[in-house]
Amino acid sequence: MAVERTLSIIKPDAVAKNVIGEIESRFEKAGLKIVEMQMKQLSKEDAEGFYAEHKERPFFADLVAFMTSGPVVVQVLEGENAIALNRELMGATNPQEAAEGTIRRDFAESIDANAVHGSDSAASAEREIAYFFGA
Ligand code: TYD
Ligand code: MG
Repeated sequence: MAVERTLSIIKPDAVAKNVIGEIESRFEKAGLKIVEMQMKQLSKEDAEGFYAEHKERPFFADLVAFMTSGPVVVQVLEGENAIALNRELMGATNPQEAAEGTIRRDFAESIDANAVHGSDSAASAEREIAYFFGA
């Protein structure tokens, strides 16, 4: 398995709940290194561009409103199998379907305010890292 990089976001709900440290601790305990990190207020354009793949979905406007509702932590995690490992630590998109011990199960309220983002493939990771941190 190769060392990979993946784009992670701690979303506005988790930042507002004061659980940045608890979430970062899960990544660190799993062996992922935080190699880039920025706290940021996303603009509407930032959020729309980031989630462009979803722009035809019915939840798109609400997703953009949520992602711009407060500061987020945008970061790059690095480690063996980082893309899949991050998705595993996050849990399912809907926290009610997320496995026990996952970040979304423990910190998210609902499918639309679900605490974290993680790239879902090598291609997404490359695009998303470049989107926030450059090539
Ligand atoms: P998606 O890429 O399907 O999920 P994930 O974040 O697990 O990769 O969707 C992106 C975000 O869009 C998701 O985290 C929350 C929001 N969303 C909704 O609000 N409602 C929905 O029905 C879906 C599928 C997603
Ligand atoms: Mg996704």
